[in-house]
Amino acid sequence: MGLTTSPARAALPSSCQPVAPAHSVPSLLDDVRDGLLTSPRSLPPKYFYDDRGSRLFDAICDTEEYYPTRTEDDLLGHRAADIIARLQPEHLVELGSGTSRKTRRLLDACEEQGCHATYWPFDVCESMVQDSALALMDEYDWLQVRGLVGDYHAGFEHLPGFPGRALFVFLGSTIGNLEHEYAVSFLRELRGLMGPDDALLMGADRVKDSDVLQAAYNDRDGLTAEFNRNLLRVLNREVGANFDPTAFEHRAIYNQARSRIEMYLVAAQAQTVTVKALDASIEFVEGESILTEISRKFTPASLTTLLSEAGFRIEQHYEPADGFFSLLLAAPAAD
Ligand code: SAH
Ligand code: TRP
Repeated sequence: MGLTTSPARAALPSSCQPVAPAHSVPSLLDDVRDGLLTSPRSLPPKYFYDDRGSRLFDAICDTEEYYPTRTEDDLLGHRAADIIARLQPEHLVELGSGTSRKTRRLLDACEEQGCHATYWPFDVCESMVQDSALALMDEYDWLQVRGLVGDYHAGFEHLPGFPGRALFVFLGSTIGNLEHEYAVSFLRELRGLMGPDDALLMGADRVKDSDVLQAAYNDRDGLTAEFNRNLLRVLNREVGANFDPTAFEHRAIYNQARSRIEMYLVAAQAQTVTVKALDASIEFVEGESILTEISRKFTPASLTTLLSEAGFRIEQHYEPADGFFSLLLAAPAAD
């Protein structure tokens, strides 16, 4: 942490910039049309993260059941000094940074080693980027934060350049929220941005006992259920839908055959929902579900496959003794 904190500093507007889409991505309306007017029903997870959703996600990270956050934080706490010493990055670029809570381990190591990197948090949730940029500049008086607000599925061409060595950071097993083929092309695209001395630090959750996995997505306080239902509130607000969020139940199950958690919203009774912006109505029969998220769970072998298909070479594979989570440091492989 910085030794001195100037009160004036926190009041400064943080520097935050939008990242223009490099290619078009479906709009929310397109996604609703494609995902809800057809069967089986599904929605992309990025819409969870409005301000309320992001705050709910942050609260999930503190639940007893959701072990990934504390496990990854612990790994980072032990390994950050080693990672920063190896890389000596001039830039830390984080995809899906959220509140940047775990990134503080890397920033602490930067501070200890006098490695004054610039931090670039990139997230679709503008309020999150702004708030965490302000908080971080307050905590680390040497730190430059340049917030990037946009959809990382819309291409990286319009990101600013990162001259000098960059460490790209992708934590929280967010990679597991992408289907394998898509995850490969996403990481490939990221690799295209990287110079030969840059690196990727990625966190990935591991296959384990299904009770432990299922509990992580079914916390007893119901925060995950509320987070899941938040998607319906977003639809009500953004496309004039009239979902009753209480008429949908949260369901998260571990699909062992596919090594993934599947999260659904299940209609508690038959109901009709109208979507004004589409001038359409959707009939749900009782028990009908909407797939809202997948969270794939990995093995050391599946991580090696994923990264090598995406054009990376694993340099370090950090894991706790119980193998609950992986933190991978990877370098772009030669073409
Ligand atoms: N890295 C944090 C947060 C993980 S949650 C952690 O490990 O705890 C996933 C984060 O990715 C959220 O902050 C969400 O707003 C962001 N996100 C989801 N989809 C995105 C997209 N398409 N483009 C940019 N950010 C996205
Ligand atoms: N990347 C996180 C994960 O797959 C996202 C996440 C955690 C999540 N809990 C959730 C997404 C609950 C939706 C609902 O673990």
